[in-house]
Amino acid sequence: MFTCTTFADRVRFLIELAVTAPSTHNSQPWRFVITQESCRLWFEPKKQLKEADPSSRDLFISLGCVLENFVVAAQYYGMYKEVRLHMKENFVAEVFLYDRAAAHQEEYRSLCESILKRYNARGLFERTNIHEATLKRIEDIAQKYTEQGVRLQVVQNSTDIKNVAELTAKGIRIARSKPLFRKEFAQWFRTNLSKKQDGIPGYAVGLPLLPSFIAPFLMRYCSLAKVLVRKNTESILTAPAVCVIESDTDSPETWLQVGRLAERVMLECYAHDLATSIYVAAIEMDNMSQELAQTLELRGRPQFLFTCGVPLTNHRKFTPRLSVDLVLK
Ligand SMILES: Cc1cc2nc3c(=O)[nH]c(=O)nc-3n(C[C@H](O)[C@H](O)[C@H](O)COP(=O)(O)O)c2cc1C
Repeated sequence: MFTCTTFADRVRFLIELAVTAPSTHNSQPWRFVITQESCRLWFEPKKQLKEADPSSRDLFISLGCVLENFVVAAQYYGMYKEVRLHMKENFVAEVFLYDRAAAHQEEYRSLCESILKRYNARGLFERTNIHEATLKRIEDIAQKYTEQGVRLQVVQNSTDIKNVAELTAKGIRIARSKPLFRKEFAQWFRTNLSKKQDGIPGYAVGLPLLPSFIAPFLMRYCSLAKVLVRKNTESILTAPAVCVIESDTDSPETWLQVGRLAERVMLECYAHDLATSIYVAAIEMDNMSQELAQTLELRGRPQFLFTCGVPLTNHRKFTPRLSVDLVLK
């Protein structure tokens, strides 16, 4: 940031941080426009995932995640003024910014640093509970988002976590039984040596080099449900907490707020040395979200789910991102 001399350069820097956000299949469905006083967030319709996300719910959740990253970074660098949602055609939101290189806002430092720490862990967690103070902090943050119609439930009861794992397994089996879902997923799966700036490289799901070369083929033509169910349920069962975000309404605007809350809480987790793993199979497939809502006695519709805890292994490599030039419209 110190080397950025113009407003546009400073906004580019914020975008670079923001795009490390999670997105379905690492599709990065976002585009940005820098104006004289703001940064506009658009979505790229070509990145819609017809099979994994026919309603575009995950697409708007991903956009919410990138928006929250951008806001947190702008807050830390003293540039943040306000966000206005547009939600018309492909124009999602506009973040108004101060044109100045202000002093850093120290209260956002650890959160902003977490933007570069976050990754989708997917692995096993240590058998340690999350500190009460961290949980309280997460719940306090989530409280601020309830006005936007989204709520966070932190599930710690082992029976409930077991039920989440079982429903995730059911969701994975349904998804993997669909040839078109498998075909789409395989198109986003990458070898460990791929130079592509999007998609899921094998190393992100724990595959060494050689298996990463045959994985796209297997992902497309074989169910692999057994192995995926085992890996996902093992991971969920070791988590000390499952965070579920629910809402009373179902609309692109709600999904955007779900993404904002999810990213904010995930950043907070990383600021407390916790890692997070997103698993939406229990929500995504057929009418399973109702089943999950009943199991967890939720009032609303579950929209997003991630586990958190102290990771058992160190993270080695981040997934790729499109360069800022490619995401500027
Ligand atoms: C809306 C949404 C749904 C996702 N669903 C899953 C999922 O069910 N299982 C999974 O392993 N990862 C899931 N992810 C994680 C993405 O695959 C991941 O964010 C992406 O590959 C980029 O990697 P990173 O998060 O490590 O940066 C999801 C992410 C988002 C935003």
